[in-house]
Amino acid sequence: GNGYDFVVVANRLAVNHVTNEDGTTGWERSPGGLVTALAPLMESSEGAWVGWHGAADDVLEPFDHGDMHLVPVPLSSEDIEDYYEGFSNGTLWPLYHDVIARPDFHRHWFEAYRRVNQRFAEHTAQVAAPKATVWVQDYQLQLVPAMLRDLRPDLTIGFFNHIPFPPPGLFAQLPWRHSVLRGLLGADLIGFQRASDASNFRRAVHNRMGYYVEDEMIHVPLQTNAPDHGSPLAGFNADADRGTAVRVNSAPPAGVARLVEAKEFPISIDTATITALAKREDIIARSQEIREELGNPETVLLGVDRLDYTKGIRHRMKAYEELLQNGSLTVGQVCMVQVASPSREGVESYRLLKEEIEQTVGRISGEFDTLSHPAIRYLHHSYPIEEMVALYMAADVMLVTALRDGMNLVAKEYVAARRGDDGVLVLSEFTGAADQLRQALLINPHDVDELKAAILRATTMDSEDASARMENLRRQVVHHDVRRWATDFLDRLGELTGVVSVKG
Ligand code: G6P
Repeated sequence: GNGYDFVVVANRLAVNHVTNEDGTTGWERSPGGLVTALAPLMESSEGAWVGWHGAADDVLEPFDHGDMHLVPVPLSSEDIEDYYEGFSNGTLWPLYHDVIARPDFHRHWFEAYRRVNQRFAEHTAQVAAPKATVWVQDYQLQLVPAMLRDLRPDLTIGFFNHIPFPPPGLFAQLPWRHSVLRGLLGADLIGFQRASDASNFRRAVHNRMGYYVEDEMIHVPLQTNAPDHGSPLAGFNADADRGTAVRVNSAPPAGVARLVEAKEFPISIDTATITALAKREDIIARSQEIREELGNPETVLLGVDRLDYTKGIRHRMKAYEELLQNGSLTVGQVCMVQVASPSREGVESYRLLKEEIEQTVGRISGEFDTLSHPAIRYLHHSYPIEEMVALYMAADVMLVTALRDGMNLVAKEYVAARRGDDGVLVLSEFTGAADQLRQALLINPHDVDELKAAILRATTMDSEDASARMENLRRQVVHHDVRRWATDFLDRLGELTGVVSVKG
């Protein structure tokens, strides 16, 4: 045909390569919420998904899976080291999460990032139909919007950042800050998780590029001779990143400007799927079995995270340990379950975190376990969604203590799985979810005493208070699910297509 009308571009493809029990292999749709939300939209339009298929040095032809067209983008081992583990997860990830870990800045990492982003843009340009809508996802691909606009000016381009966007003072550390801003400004609509992320981005654009910003609209001048204002691609080199002083525009620029909107579109979960699983007999039975396997404690505390230093796993274990030490909680009465799914093990800070967590778990376990009752169960695995829902249903208290998190979907999944309107969510105010889940017990995870008090309050909360809160939280995730997120974004993108302002 002449291409696809709706194209999603993400670092990871929407399918995983799986080996079946009989040894045959195939592709299976990824279980994540993003894929669940976008797959129906692809099936109803002519949709394609561009992304990396997860293996090194493997070049695959495009193929169809269900009603989705998949376009694998190859990454060499060097690309994985420098673009994925390096610039994406060794530079951008820690920088955008408030430098909880120290970001490393290496020129050859950025060089790989630029090269791989160009490859994603080229694959996308090849499959998109004339005037197609393209939706680029997340921090690994921030240069793609401008690169793609340069290749294909006819396209409507959206971008969504799933992680936080840092305050201007932190973003300023990035040696390639102008390239990143120019890359993102190739989009017509740039979505963020929180209003504060969108405003951080607009302030960075205003301060560093000098562009006029009015409410959520950024005026990107199209015809001027200033070095920053030319073709979006003019600047993907180090020179353009170094600062000639920028004149900040306090009025709309003369001439023609492209309008780019930057605002919040908080992502959510596939609520209906979770609530349906929570009604299944076998999953209800499994949740009871889990409590028995833990020795029937009165209170099960649960943490579920990728094993990532942004998640505050150590902070929550520290609070729990102190509550056991001072006798506020006793083993037998209480048990903590921590699921930490393996993540980014090629990155050093993740390997160090894994060791620290293992040590902490070992200490708590050695000190407080009895032969019949564990103080803590630590599971370094990922589980299918059915088992996760059973765990959510088995847990009286959910602990989400991230130091910084774009959204945190685990918090929303827990809420969706609580059929009986009981259970208490302890939620860090540094998550995007805290903007929507106002009836959770909101905490600052850096404040150990506050965290301890919140855990105790959650374990002793009377059921009327708990169910009033949970009912309110459930209403939030029922009304704002991931499909609504996707249609809100895409509807707005449709309205914005090709909007320009002409002045002077
Ligand atoms: C976060 C990011 C995603 C990423 C996911 C898993 O949610 O926003 O872009 O895919 O973590 O990380 P990984 O590096 O394994 O893709």
